[in-house]
Amino acid sequence: MKRVSSHVSLASEAEINLDLSRLVIDKPRFTLERKRSFDEQSWSELSHRQNDGFDSVLQSPAFPSGGFDSPFSVGTHFGGPHPLVNEAWEALRKSVVYFREQPVGTIAAVDHASEEVLNYDQVFVRDFVPSALAFLMNNETDIVKNFLLKTLHLQSSEKMVDRFKLGAGAMPASFKVDRNKNRNTETLVADFGESAIGRVAPVDSGFWWIILLRAYTKYTGDVSLSESPECQKCMRLILNLCLSEGFDTFPTLLCTDGCSMIDRRMGIYGYPIEIQALFYMALRCALQMLKPEGEGKDFIEKIGQRLHALTYHMRNYFWLDFHQLNNIYRYKTEEYSHTAVNKFNVIPDSIPDWVFDFMPCRGGYFLGNVSPAMMDFRWFALGNCIAIVSSLATPEQSVAIMDLIEEKWDELVGEMPLKICYPALENHEWRIITGCDPKNTRWSYHNGGSWPVLLWLLTAACIKTGRPQMAKRAIELAESRLLKDGWPEYYDGKLGRFVGKQARKFQTWSIAGYLVARMMLEDPSTLMMISMEEDRPVKPTMRRSASWNA
Ligand code: GLC
Repeated sequence: MKRVSSHVSLASEAEINLDLSRLVIDKPRFTLERKRSFDEQSWSELSHRQNDGFDSVLQSPAFPSGGFDSPFSVGTHFGGPHPLVNEAWEALRKSVVYFREQPVGTIAAVDHASEEVLNYDQVFVRDFVPSALAFLMNNETDIVKNFLLKTLHLQSSEKMVDRFKLGAGAMPASFKVDRNKNRNTETLVADFGESAIGRVAPVDSGFWWIILLRAYTKYTGDVSLSESPECQKCMRLILNLCLSEGFDTFPTLLCTDGCSMIDRRMGIYGYPIEIQALFYMALRCALQMLKPEGEGKDFIEKIGQRLHALTYHMRNYFWLDFHQLNNIYRYKTEEYSHTAVNKFNVIPDSIPDWVFDFMPCRGGYFLGNVSPAMMDFRWFALGNCIAIVSSLATPEQSVAIMDLIEEKWDELVGEMPLKICYPALENHEWRIITGCDPKNTRWSYHNGGSWPVLLWLLTAACIKTGRPQMAKRAIELAESRLLKDGWPEYYDGKLGRFVGKQARKFQTWSIAGYLVARMMLEDPSTLMMISMEEDRPVKPTMRRSASWNA
């Protein structure tokens, strides 16, 4: 196991202190002791000092080494290493999948007790992300590079659902190693949705792939991978699927139900926040990595235009706080023309009662979904956390999202971080929206269940907004249960107190998510792998029309 140097300096102490007044935008209201060194050096501000491009990465003394003594972290914010860390590394290593003797990913769950394997014996693209971050932080970069290359090659396989051919850019939801003992051969077999329950293609896979490619490049400083013709092509193919022109009137991405982490019918079809936030982040990551030569130039231009429109749309129409809720409550309907205030014709009566109680005076969040006459008022963890780390949320919105989590701690965090969404669908709504899904009963699984994997995203959001104590509190909650309960996939109940009804044990992303959260809090400089600074306004390039020259 490699041990790496224990200190990273991306911005000097003096530089950091200079800006203190600006740094601490919010004051955590927890009574836990605050560590001055940490809170005042809000990483969100540190990252502002960093150029998002790779030049700064290469010049930075921070790379390729991280600033922690992993995996046996010294535990500066916890007062010592936790025994769970060693256990977690051991369990994570057991999940590594080898292909022709090379590590290529981690299996979704190593649950020998479970009778039903389904596809939990596969390497899922989204599930591998926290594993990859943990390995990167431990300077084990090969597995991440191999994974990126193997999935890239899988992209070119033929993708058919019955007689229908999927787009060339689609990335697999998962893959497995097929071993033929007689012939002594190994092949990778991917699932693009053609075997998945519900036959849905994972829209998030391609976005996670781009985000991971940037994380790898940022962390290792090795630009040769992202600049290789095959990675450039892979990115272009993924982007081609979402930047092509169609009948859209919105810059958001139209999706079917079950196309992301929530991979079953849960009423998230339309424009789900999880996909929109990942889409935004992937676009920004791609913008940093695409080479401006050849076909890349056209994509760079298209991304700029899309980001410009997407940012506006999301920050305005998906945002909900007390003030905006009151506006919607008083909306007039059936407005026609450009002067309409209620642009999507949302009928105030469709606002569910729970929102009025849930919405604190301080705080806000991005809605679950916005489309004509439809607002999904549910709160979703992944989309809101990604909105913070990617800076899709403005600094004020990021603060408000964290305020809301703090205010609604019992509802959203409870006894096990973090609820996948809030609140749960019940009774008639559950029947209609989930199609009577027995796995997604109220407060279970995707329907208001609590997923330990989300801990790393919560921690990243906490660090970015200067609230390490909030992350610490969440991590300690997880630590009190995870090992004892055998690293479950999810917990059930309003407070997340019960190991999930059908939850797998030794679920890899629960293990890796914990490790990433802990390591990130130990060394906040590692956040830069997945954090993006606030965007400078992107001006779309205006092209003169042909008639202009005529
Ligand atoms: C479940 C989850 C999905 C995850 C998969 C493997 O289907 O809903 O998000 O990728 O399990 O862990």
